Amino acid sequence: MPDAFVIEGGAELRGTIEAGGAKNSATKLLAATLLAPGLHRLTRVPRLADVEAMLDVIRHLGAKTTWMGPNVLEVDCPDELGIEAPYAAVRKMRASTAVLGPLVARTGRARIPLPGGCNLGHRGIDLHQKGLERLGAKITVAHGFQEAYADDLKGCEIELDYPSHGATETIMMTAVRSDGTTVIRNASREPEIEDLAGYLIRMGARISGQGSSEIEITGVTDLRPATFEVMPDRLEAGTYLFAGAATSGDLTVTNLVPQHLERVCEKLTECGHEVKTTATEIRVRGARRSKAADVSTLPYPGFPTDLQPLAVALLTRADGTSIVTENIFDGRFMFVDELARMGADVHTEGHYVVVKGTDELTGAPINAPDLRAGAALVVAALMARGTTILEDVLNVDRGYENMEGRLTTVGASIRRTTTVGVM
Ligand code: EPU
Repeated sequence: MPDAFVIEGGAELRGTIEAGGAKNSATKLLAATLLAPGLHRLTRVPRLADVEAMLDVIRHLGAKTTWMGPNVLEVDCPDELGIEAPYAAVRKMRASTAVLGPLVARTGRARIPLPGGCNLGHRGIDLHQKGLERLGAKITVAHGFQEAYADDLKGCEIELDYPSHGATETIMMTAVRSDGTTVIRNASREPEIEDLAGYLIRMGARISGQGSSEIEITGVTDLRPATFEVMPDRLEAGTYLFAGAATSGDLTVTNLVPQHLERVCEKLTECGHEVKTTATEIRVRGARRSKAADVSTLPYPGFPTDLQPLAVALLTRADGTSIVTENIFDGRFMFVDELARMGADVHTEGHYVVVKGTDELTGAPINAPDLRAGAALVVAALMARGTTILEDVLNVDRGYENMEGRLTTVGASIRRTTTVGVM
């Protein structure tokens, strides 16, 4: 029986939660270790299913990995790397596409399974492939694998059609070992790109402009292993802030970078919640009831798509009607029907969700269709009257370390069980 959460709604969350290291950075930093043989050390690495999946991939390619402490990881990258990533590990996590760039850069070859379907809708990889081709690689696709070959990689100018987070990372990790200078225009500005650039620079790479839409990378022949601390997880932190606001609680998330969550704080404020920030903390004091507000997701620095399900959950009990627009992924609404089963008045129209605030949600048996949807359903369950049983929480474990433990310390009634059946 897969794990489930049993959640008793109604508690106001009060207290402090410390943000962990960012999944969407840690997984890419692990891929980047393949760029330099020797012993790397990463700290603040979150213990998550997605991190374990990436460790499987890099171990398969020849790396040795050792947990040195709860969140400290050593990766020993070999002189000779394998070139093929296993389907079994890659299918678990799309981020494993991140090894494509480092493998091409190190060995001139890579054979990676195509990532396949995803429950957020269509997820293209054309921008990764076009970027590699511009740098001089040849890409073929057959039998469910993409193969890349490159005798010479040469720096060039690449203008992305869309500021793809993943494609920007793939190009950066290839360009650091290409000959000459690469300029990425319309690059992703997500904070995780800056973290990856910071790590690559620590390894000896020459990169500037990270965090802006134009990144310049000058290739070097030698990169060396490095020690690096993973940035705080703004999406995990944002999730807990939504939980604090939604339960009319008083919650502080510490050890984060508040600028990463500016749009989120603005939206919580617009919804009537009180938000205060210091240099490394954000405190939210939830109103009795949220005001309605429209939310539209955009690439960073816009409102993050990953927190869209959290916004929908919060707004289900708002005073009024809200329109939430998803502009990044075409299938990120699979949780909406689950919210409706809890009594929410929500429906989708194309890439919009129309949320009419109701007085109350009620606990129900539901399931977590994907990571952030699962987190949003936890928040809905915390707001609801009665008991919710949320199944498939392994999807939540992909991106949240010990969510039930952290929420319990701030007053939530939530426990993990493996014994529930169909209610
Ligand atoms: N896209 C293409 N072609 C490409 C690349 C992307 O069409 O070659 C499209 C995708 O289909 C999608 C959109 O562009 O519709 C956004 O993709 P992007 O490449 O920007 O995102 P990603 O690298 O696939 C990462 C995070 C996501 C996060 C987004 C946006 C990881 C592992 N994933 O995805 O996080 O939502 O950036 O910030 O870093 C999650 O944590 O659960 C998650 C999905």
